[in-house]
Amino acid sequence: MRDFTVRPATADDAAAVLALHRKVAAQPGGLARQPEEVTADYVAHALAASADGGVNLVAESVDGALCGELHVERMKVAIFAHVLTDLTVAVDPDWQGRGVGSALFRVLIDTARSMTPPVGRIELWTGAANTGAQRLYERLGFRIEGRMIGRGRLPDGTVDDDIVMGLLLD
Ligand SMILES: CC(C)(COP(=O)(O)OP(=O)(O)OC[C@H]1O[C@@H](n2cnc3c(N)ncnc32)[C@H](O)[C@@H]1OP(=O)(O)O)[C@@H](O)C(=O)NCCC(=O)NCCS
Repeated sequence: MRDFTVRPATADDAAAVLALHRKVAAQPGGLARQPEEVTADYVAHALAASADGGVNLVAESVDGALCGELHVERMKVAIFAHVLTDLTVAVDPDWQGRGVGSALFRVLIDTARSMTPPVGRIELWTGAANTGAQRLYERLGFRIEGRMIGRGRLPDGTVDDDIVMGLLLD
């Protein structure tokens, strides 16, 4: 049996989601945001976007601590309204490599398949150096679609490309 469950995020999760993202943001090479860029507004926006056609999920350990979070927004322009975009996923470093990220994505994909209006595409960007994340996303069915050259400028001044990945749902 797994020692965590995945469920929709609620307003009561806000403080724990903020702390989780700050902890993961402090780990080099993962999230785009620096810890100080993870704000209460950022967390509130993710929850509000989920109520507006997106998805916001948390993974909770059996002892009630949040060990992972995923959020994604629905695009608003009509021709793109079947697209979930701007996806972010963060798993507590103490929990990484234990199936939490995979479980969050599986629930996201199941949820997306039953949403109205229908979702036809989920897209994300990941740093080119984050090959672990890319491997995970490919296993989940995402395909590499392109490369955005020099999109990320890291705190030490080096420049990183972003990899564009998409999953088509039928
Ligand atoms: C990437 C991430 C969401 C994956 O979640 P997870 O719960 O660790 O992943 P799972 O246990 O379900 O799956 C394991 C796979 O995830 C990837 N992975 C595991 N730890 C990782 C890490 N620290 N960083 C990046 N990818 C990782 C690997 O592909 C691994 O498979 P492998 O064992 O064959 O190498 C999570 O590790 C994380 O939050 N990393 C830091 C932030 C980040 O990179 N976010 C994604 C930005 S696009």
